[in-house]
Amino acid sequence: MATNITWHPSLSHSERTTLLHQPGLTIWLTGLSASGKSTIATALEQHLLHNSYTAYRLDGDNIRFGLNKDLTFSPQDRVENIRRIGEVAKLFADSATVAITSFISPYKADRDLARKLHDDAGLLFVEVHVDVPIDVAEARDPKGLYKKAREGIIKDFTGISAGAPYERPENPEVYIDTSKSSVEEGVQIIVDYLVKRGVLT
Ligand code: PPS
Repeated sequence: MATNITWHPSLSHSERTTLLHQPGLTIWLTGLSASGKSTIATALEQHLLHNSYTAYRLDGDNIRFGLNKDLTFSPQDRVENIRRIGEVAKLFADSATVAITSFISPYKADRDLARKLHDDAGLLFVEVHVDVPIDVAEARDPKGLYKKAREGIIKDFTGISAGAPYERPENPEVYIDTSKSSVEEGVQIIVDYLVKRGVLT
């Protein structure tokens, strides 16, 4: 725990959004591996950028190449992974950027903590459950990870291994079932929600 530190205030979030004419918020995608989080996040980021919104995607796999390269998939490290991303997303949102996160984020308590961080700072947090039946995810298996998990090569694979559960969101702002919707439809469901909330025009 750091001591002898001082908070230095800066421009407020509303001053930034007014000056930059940009919304700032976090769109938090959660779901099983191979549910389609990264694909939807990438398409949503492109959609927003093409419509002149500042957006930036934080992706589970990608972040583990750098910022979170010290973390494994143990329960404690997954907690720390999501704690850090909650903080980073909050900074992006505060800066008047649409932060799009795509992490499995399997634990409800961690997602709730990320939401609380945003709530306390007056920033919008939109939880999107990118759902898929696990047998469909396993049949997709784009990285061969489910196969490795079944073979016991990966010991702590979300949704397959006993010690790696996925806690489904109880009340997400947005729900997408990617076994029923295309990528474009998934993006549109999120965009429609943001328009309804008055975030996008
Ligand atoms: S978590 O649970 O939120 O900390 O996971 P995350 O940071 O999103 O990373 C998930 C990606 O890591 C790959 N991978 C694994 N996922 C789950 N369990 C285990 N054991 C594992 N090992 C590697 C996998 O590519 C995940 O990416 P997605 O896009 O979800 O398939």
